[in-house]
Amino acid sequence: MAKVPVQFTLNGEDKAEFVESGVTLLKALREKIGDTSPKGGCQQGTCGACSVLIDGELRLSCLTLAETCDGASIVTTAGLAEGGVMHPLQRAFLDGFATQCGFCTPGMLMAAKALLDRNPDPTRDDVVEAISGNICRCTGYEPIIQAVLSAARANSHQVA
Ligand code: FES
Ligand code: FES
Repeated sequence: MAKVPVQFTLNGEDKAEFVESGVTLLKALREKIGDTSPKGGCQQGTCGACSVLIDGELRLSCLTLAETCDGASIVTTAGLAEGGVMHPLQRAFLDGFATQCGFCTPGMLMAAKALLDRNPDPTRDDVVEAISGNICRCTGYEPIIQAVLSAARANSHQVA
């Protein structure tokens, strides 16, 4: 299959790769670049486990062709912690027991980050809507919702 050059930033690092034409961003990230934080669940756009941010927008990496990401800024869960310190969302998920098997967690975190980036003070309904594209088979969702609200509160206290 033809290889296509693609350059982008991944969690702030410049990347220049040749990817097979037609390969998904999920596959390129996991199998070529070595970032396994986006998870391959359904691989058809229904579970949200593969969610990443592309130029600040929440996107499903299983439905995104890697070759369309030329020039993009991509953020995955692997890029959330800074200097070895967990992102407030990661801390809230851990403290609030919002992760069990953990398979949905990277996608949930990215959906939550996308929400808090555009709305730092969300309501419960805002959180429910923001994670509505992400399936969790373990937690019953409530600990996840509470963790996102808790991270938002923690952020607002930091600002104040
Ligand atoms: S793996 Fe992409 S939505 Fe399920
Ligand atoms: S923690 Fe297992 S699927 Fe969500």
